[in-house]
Amino acid sequence: MMSHESTDARAGDTLVTLEGITKSFGAVQSLRGVDLRLGAGEVLGLVGDNGAGKSTLMKVLAGAIRHDAGSITVGGRQVRFHSPADARSEHIGIVYQDLALCDTLDVASNLFLGREPRRGPFVDRGEMHRQAAEMLSTLHVRVRSTHQEIGELSGGQRQAVAIARAVSFQPKVLILDEPTAALAVAEVRQVLRMIREVAARGVGVILITHRLQDLFEVCDRITVMYEGRSVEDAAIADLDIETLVGMITRSNTTTEEAA
Ligand SMILES: Nc1ncnc2c1ncn2[C@@H]1O[C@H](COP(=O)(O)OP(=O)(O)O)[C@@H](O)[C@H]1O
Ligand SMILES: [Mg+2]
Repeated sequence: MMSHESTDARAGDTLVTLEGITKSFGAVQSLRGVDLRLGAGEVLGLVGDNGAGKSTLMKVLAGAIRHDAGSITVGGRQVRFHSPADARSEHIGIVYQDLALCDTLDVASNLFLGREPRRGPFVDRGEMHRQAAEMLSTLHVRVRSTHQEIGELSGGQRQAVAIARAVSFQPKVLILDEPTAALAVAEVRQVLRMIREVAARGVGVILITHRLQDLFEVCDRITVMYEGRSVEDAAIADLDIETLVGMITRSNTTTEEAA
């Protein structure tokens, strides 16, 4: 049995397995049985129509929502998350759709919010900006200055800072919920490049996106959700856009279903 502390996971080693996850909010059954597997160094695209349950599922995996039934296995051990801190301690990081950055603080302060380097009782601002610049440069993120306020940045730069912050917690699993939804083309490229770089370090990345063309650029595999269920799991190399659209909308019945 492999220890979950193992840090030298080979590409493809299973990081996370979700089985039969269900979740209801009152009368609304958002998740009706979802299976998902993520390997080290893998980029998994999580796709499905609006309301399919993608964000809810990722909130379960990030410890923000408690599921009703089903199991979460991380590094070979079954876990139960009661809070986001529980998921973080299993090295699961998430960047939510609405980023949760603080607009009135500068780039460095956002990167270090709540864990600023200190000298005695004071925040060591020089050290914080030095480390912030280093964090951004290792991910090839360009901002004019780490002293810029987040509110002054472009959507792509804000997204990049939010991802850099999540990466700085050294996750083994990184969840990105619609990171490119509101971005210009060049900014999308930048975010996709970051995803590839993070995965190349061995991190398993789960990417939720409606931009199907992006999936073909960065993903190894996709899981398709439909009305609260996982309905397909396929290597991206075996798919084309048309097939993928068919899977998402369930407009093409598969041969098994037709039989
Ligand atoms: N906190 C909540 N309370 C009630 N219903 C919710 C809540 N969160 C999500 N839902 C419902 O669960 C379903 C799945 O939503 P969501 O996970 O956001 O889908 P997706 O991210 O795939 O668009 C939707 O019908 C949504 O309205
Ligand atoms: Mg969503």
